[in-house]
Amino acid sequence: MAFPANRLRRLRRNETLRTLVRETRLTPEALVYPLFICPGTGIRKEVRSMPGVFNLSVDEAVKEVRATRALGVLSVILFGLPEKKDEVATGAWAEDGIVQRAARAIKSEVRDVVVMGDVCLCEYMSHGHCGIVKAEAQSFEAQSLGAAAAAPPATTEYEIVNDASLELLARTSVSLARSGVDIIAPSDMMDGRVGAIRTALDKAGFENTPILSYAAKFSSGFYGPFREAADSAPQFGDRRSYQMDPANVREAMREIELDIEEGADMIMVKPAMPYLDVIAAARERFDLPLAAYQVSGEYAMIEAAARNQWIDRERVMMESLLCIRRAGASMILTYYAKEAAKLLA
Ligand code: PBG
Repeated sequence: MAFPANRLRRLRRNETLRTLVRETRLTPEALVYPLFICPGTGIRKEVRSMPGVFNLSVDEAVKEVRATRALGVLSVILFGLPEKKDEVATGAWAEDGIVQRAARAIKSEVRDVVVMGDVCLCEYMSHGHCGIVKAEAQSFEAQSLGAAAAAPPATTEYEIVNDASLELLARTSVSLARSGVDIIAPSDMMDGRVGAIRTALDKAGFENTPILSYAAKFSSGFYGPFREAADSAPQFGDRRSYQMDPANVREAMREIELDIEEGADMIMVKPAMPYLDVIAAARERFDLPLAAYQVSGEYAMIEAAARNQWIDRERVMMESLLCIRRAGASMILTYYAKEAAKLLA
């Protein structure tokens, strides 16, 4: 039966009715708060392209986690800005690495907080790539032209070496687990890293430490502000040879499937808002807890538009998070975690 018997507006007449029939709810428990840890003490340095997001020294990070946890947010994810970078990402797996120190401090000073450790090498590598870099002699084009073409090789080609990088990622994961990190979250997109990390964790006695895999992580322009926040922009080239092509959703399902086979306990889609279809497809197909990462560029766009008074900041913030949940994410990594939790209180 159609109109006038059916009137969908009946259930939209006031907020109480709307709340009664609401299909998706946002709760602070579903939010994970990313933090950028830097050396020093008493440091709270705002990221230029992410107003309201800071590089925090360990002591300041502890305060931030305590305040956020009190608002009902259960978990934080840590990124590190090391003192020094090199070609083997020493800062990522060093016993006294910046994230290791932060994790120890947070776990000893804040009760009942789940600390996730982002596992990647880009913040700790002098070249800013997520794995070990090997230079190649010449580009494929230069080779196929042959010496007769007499043109100098256009650029030095390079490769992000997959298998050798796994060892460093595994070493980083074990080191983070030792420092008290509760959940290991690899974001590098090397093939086989979940398996390598699982094996290494088990061997070191961390068989109960879960892995949240950034399983479907796309090579995205939306990471721009993060690379400023974490000082992790690649010094040459880009990440297209390891992160996913934004055009591919079927391949995303394969990535997730393989990570589950390798032992992932939770999976992630990243970025979130431009990839809601990927989140929905993953939700439909897999039964693991599913995370989505509302990335730096998504945050920066909302902030920039709000600053121009082109959008209502709070409204858009909450709508963006609600819609990521509606698409199927069980949890959302978001720079808005603390503020959204305040609004939800
Ligand atoms: C590390 C990493 C990145 C992000 C999370 N982990 C950057 C990248 O891959 O370049 C992006 C997060 C964001 O943009 O908020 N590899």
